[in-house]
Amino acid sequence: MSEPEEKSNTHHPPIHMIDLIIRKRDGRELTEREIAFIANGAASGSIPLEQLSAWLMAAWIRGLSLNEARALTIAMRDSGVKFNPAGLGKSTVDKHSTGGVGDKTSFLIAPLAAACGVAVPMISGRALGHTGGTLDKLESIPGFKTALTLDEFEAVIKKTGASIVSQTPALVPADRVLYALRDRTGTVECPGLICASILSKKLAAGLDALVLDVKTGSGAFMSNDADAEFLAALMVATAEAAGTRTVALLTDMGQPLGVAAGNWIEIVESLALMRGERPKQSEDLRELSLILAGWMVHIAGAAVSAEEGYAMAEKALMNGSALKIFTAMIEAQGGDIEIFKNPQAFHRPGATTVLNAWECGFVTEMDTTKLGWAVQRTGAGREKAGEPVDPHAGILFHARRGARVEIGQPFATLYATNEEMLSEPVELIRSAVKFSTTPPKPVPPVSKIFTKESAEKQLQASGH
Ligand code: URA
Repeated sequence: MSEPEEKSNTHHPPIHMIDLIIRKRDGRELTEREIAFIANGAASGSIPLEQLSAWLMAAWIRGLSLNEARALTIAMRDSGVKFNPAGLGKSTVDKHSTGGVGDKTSFLIAPLAAACGVAVPMISGRALGHTGGTLDKLESIPGFKTALTLDEFEAVIKKTGASIVSQTPALVPADRVLYALRDRTGTVECPGLICASILSKKLAAGLDALVLDVKTGSGAFMSNDADAEFLAALMVATAEAAGTRTVALLTDMGQPLGVAAGNWIEIVESLALMRGERPKQSEDLRELSLILAGWMVHIAGAAVSAEEGYAMAEKALMNGSALKIFTAMIEAQGGDIEIFKNPQAFHRPGATTVLNAWECGFVTEMDTTKLGWAVQRTGAGREKAGEPVDPHAGILFHARRGARVEIGQPFATLYATNEEMLSEPVELIRSAVKFSTTPPKPVPPVSKIFTKESAEKQLQASGH
């Protein structure tokens, strides 16, 4: 294969990928044209994966400047076709999280927002690093198709109010390639790369408005508050500059969200909430989903405030409209909704074990990145880009931060592909949790909110 290069013309010298890797490795800033060369080369396959991987690692180590992050976002957005939501005749809004463990809010908020009268065209991702992927979880439903054409995407939204799809060779193809590479090369936790990955998908969906759920705490890619705040500000300012009304909420990922982390078991937990049940262990998931849905409905113009949006979303959760929309969306994308009648019966893990508490006291800390790796290594995540995940694998966490546990009481139930895949996750959980004789301070679900104005101030304060 010859070296990837862009031919020179009268105005521009040729671009060679090897030069871009070396320049980024040495901490120099790339131009908009050079960044576009990388995004287009990733999308078309003209840049070999080893060169893309090397560039990603250089970008992870050196970081991307504000200009580079913005240029990469726009070039990735423009790497394929875009969705035009004008035909939907409704205000369009979406939510995207920076990645978490047990984060299944998308299954709740997409139908919740749709039930409140707005349209939700959602382009999502797969498992990334230690975090789970919305698409992998949805694909645990037999028959469910995530790779739709734009016409199919529009038809599902028109019919149900919401659709959740993947990047494809046509839709944000640059993110499809770079996302899978980052997952396997240890190059996820970079604000510029996260910003470009998330916003390229959101901007390609042509949204009117966007709510970003920026995680902070031990399970977040940006685990300290300052880094998470910078990421939130970067994404809000970048999305607003591209014409999308955006707000970011800084939310706690200091423990898994809800009880289940894995694939099918996360759908099961979400279905229970949509049926109006209120299991205590899912209360944090319920609350965060309503807060996010409330903001979506508000910034899309269907509620005068986020509080009014919350109340509308709660009504849709309790009166069954969210469940109706979720079921219709799954069916419209080919999924077998019969299994919703008895979700537990569909769960057929290869191997199961219960880990009992090995100390007594209050659970004070849960290293949620380690817990996320434990979940991925049950078989719920992948070792190599493109390989299938086990729909039945995952972990139920029976004790939450702040709970008092006694030795011998069930702490977690693990579901793995086979017996051999149980021991590493068990050890990871045991090393991730700390106990104490005194309870930890409660952590609020949302610690900060960034709007266009506060995002710009934040970026200035951080020297950008
Ligand atoms: N979600 C994405 O889509 N991309 C990231 O980089 C992180 C979370």
